[in-house]
Amino acid sequence: MRHEHFETLAPICVVCREGDVAHSLVLRPGAREDQGHVLEGMLRCSNAACQREYPILDGIPLLVADLPSYVKQQGAALLERADVSERTEAWLADCLGPGTDFDLRRRHLSSYGDAHYRDLDADERARHGSLASLWTALARLAGPLPEGPRLDVGCAVGRGAFELASEGEGALTLGIDLNYSMLRVAASALRTGVVSYPERVVGVVSERRTRALTTLRRTRVDFWACDALRLPFRDGRFAVTSALNVLDSVSSPSELLRVLHRVLSPRGLALLASPYDWSDAVTPMAQWLGGHSREASHRGSSTTLMHELLANGSLGFELVAEHENEPWVLRLHERSQITYSTHLLVGRKR
Ligand SMILES: C[S@@+](CC[C@H](N)C(=O)[O-])C[C@H]1O[C@@H](n2cnc3c(N)ncnc32)[C@H](O)[C@@H]1O
Ligand SMILES: [Zn+2]
Repeated sequence: MRHEHFETLAPICVVCREGDVAHSLVLRPGAREDQGHVLEGMLRCSNAACQREYPILDGIPLLVADLPSYVKQQGAALLERADVSERTEAWLADCLGPGTDFDLRRRHLSSYGDAHYRDLDADERARHGSLASLWTALARLAGPLPEGPRLDVGCAVGRGAFELASEGEGALTLGIDLNYSMLRVAASALRTGVVSYPERVVGVVSERRTRALTTLRRTRVDFWACDALRLPFRDGRFAVTSALNVLDSVSSPSELLRVLHRVLSPRGLALLASPYDWSDAVTPMAQWLGGHSREASHRGSSTTLMHELLANGSLGFELVAEHENEPWVLRLHERSQITYSTHLLVGRKR
């Protein structure tokens, strides 16, 4: 956690917030720091009646309401060691086998590491459907970004936040996610300038990939563990928010749109991309935006419904621009990939 981000964004306690009453967090003395980053420490709610503590680990503050559940869910990732060689890691992967937490974490890191950073190899073909190309299309739609802090929601391994931070004149930017192992890759790339992740070859076999982030501006970026539906910020903190491929990854996409609107300042921009790949296991069907109700005015089309929701002003946005089909390619292993077609939208807070 960078001091600059903590001071500028002044995070609030997500437990004792009630309506407009919110309490700031303070950094407890005795934190372990390195070059402006707090690597390990404790934040505490300033409300005497609450005093909830939020830990900082690997430079990542964990600002979630139900910490015991979070730690239980992400425990294996939180405790995963970073000091083992590639050879030992391969041996562990063989022993643990497919479908385990370890295997699923590595598959996610492989797919998102590839989508976010494969274009850095300077191979033009690698750019097709990469996060960088998706971001470029979205930034072009949005035009010049308003001045002020920027937030990338569901940042995964971090590329969108690096891009957001560099756009135009640049600005202080925060990436948030709940997936600890992805955040750790992002936070490590931020501090070292090198991104490193396992790239899946076949089955449980992976090879470690490292790439230097020489062309990306890292100085004003930070990564925090936060729930997108319960952001630890006062209203109007950000001039720009982005959520790439996140609407269909949360339990309530309409709540996500409300939260993005809440944390934006007046005239602030929301940059959205989605393949509308709804799944009942992640988002209960009643919460999907489209994907059901063929008899409704949107005829079950998520594209039409999202267009209507932004254009008719009911969410407090006006529609600035949209683009129907932008490719997004997620690599699964050396012989398999998924190609999505994403819908891009830019909304401005009215
Ligand atoms: C499909 S991925 C997209 C990642 C990245 N934006 C991209 O386009 O490559 C969705 C991301 O949202 C994150 N996510 C899901 N629910 C979340 C929540 N409630 N709060 C924060 N992040 C969440 C996931 O951990 C995952 O990294
Ligand atoms: Zn509190």
